[in-house]
Amino acid sequence: MPGRRTEQTADGTVPCRVVVCRDCCCGSPKVTGDHAAQTARLRAEVPVRVSDCLDVCDQANVIVVQPSTAGRAAGARPVWLGLVNDPGATEDIVTWVRAGGPGVAPRPDILDLYAFTPPRRRTRP
Ligand code: FES
Repeated sequence: MPGRRTEQTADGTVPCRVVVCRDCCCGSPKVTGDHAAQTARLRAEVPVRVSDCLDVCDQANVIVVQPSTAGRAAGARPVWLGLVNDPGATEDIVTWVRAGGPGVAPRPDILDLYAFTPPRRRTRP
């Protein structure tokens, strides 16, 4: 996929990281919130890749938490979070990712409110 970065470390492992959607809806004036501050906050704490539209605009702002190498080995898959439009939710994501993310650290209960299953036609973020 063009522009894709894996954030691979020297030992060949990949840390937990997030994909932040920013396109026609996510990060636009259509959605309330300080989107630049959200992206900056995430970038200050965890590996971040900004994506074009992930085709689930009804869930804007969309953030996908990608498991680390260890998380994937434990069976974790990417966790899609929608309607992430307030600083508190952003902080909860930071906390989870810094703790190891999917497959490594339990997801904070509050993030259950944001998790959704993307349509099967989705491409990988
Ligand atoms: S702009 Fe984010 S899902 Fe469409």
